[in-house]
Amino acid sequence: MSAVIVSGKDLAKEKRAFIKEKVSELHTEKNIQPSLAVILVGEDPASQSYVRAKEKACEEAGINSILEKYPSSITQDELLERITHFNGDASVHGILVQLPLPDHIDELAVIEHISPGKDVDGFHPVNIGRMMIDQKSFLPCTPYGIVEMIKSLDVSISGKHVVVIGRSNIVGKPVGQLLLKEDATVTYCHSRTKDLASITKQADILIAAVGRAKLIGPEYVKDGAIVIDVGVNRLETGKLCGDVDFEAVKEKASYITPVPGGVGPMTITMLLHNTLQSAQNEACENKTFSS
Ligand code: GUN
Repeated sequence: MSAVIVSGKDLAKEKRAFIKEKVSELHTEKNIQPSLAVILVGEDPASQSYVRAKEKACEEAGINSILEKYPSSITQDELLERITHFNGDASVHGILVQLPLPDHIDELAVIEHISPGKDVDGFHPVNIGRMMIDQKSFLPCTPYGIVEMIKSLDVSISGKHVVVIGRSNIVGKPVGQLLLKEDATVTYCHSRTKDLASITKQADILIAAVGRAKLIGPEYVKDGAIVIDVGVNRLETGKLCGDVDFEAVKEKASYITPVPGGVGPMTITMLLHNTLQSAQNEACENKTFSS
């Protein structure tokens, strides 16, 4: 069997067209233009490229984006001051500080400084906490995008065994939580897990978010499993590849996401979705958050 290749690119295109329509409606009906402030610190090439992609996606959707770039010598207080500024600017609906930050800056302090009502990354402890207890919140974009991709397939999540490899705060932990909410049975694996393959082979849905090129070969995968690859690794050749050995695993899985063109485009799409949601919250009396 050769797996169906799940194009995040196609699903993202469809969802972005819908978001663009809603952005336009909000502008016409309420005179509100969704606006996202992005702060980039330092010169990391991967971060620069992600931020460029976010800017371009905003522009295409009609969302205003404001980019502030700072050298890695910026102090934590200076960075917090910029966040304070955007927290208080009613025309800004979303604030995103691109991670990672330089070592001298406390990432959690920065995330906690963003008003939860503008935390369109869904990283603030208030949003993470609300997500855990099934309350309205901004959902972290990559996990949210993964759930949307799985829901777009002709399969039910309820009762399925999901195995997540990786326990990061921004992908592994929250994706398991979101799929638990969809009534999956969730197992987390990580670098200290013993006999990884014996667990991953039980997965109906296997999510690889470890950051190690081609770690997951066919010996880790059950016949007919859905395989979601969150890894973005650069090979020595310069080519991007995921955590999954795509060519070998696609012969065993029922569905598989490619890298690039899989989860990546969905992450940015859910960022647009959250920014629109934040602007809609402003327009609506029944605000999810006060910001
Ligand atoms: N760095 C890698 N992924 C992300 C993301 O989704 N949001 C932010 N802010 N930084 C990141």
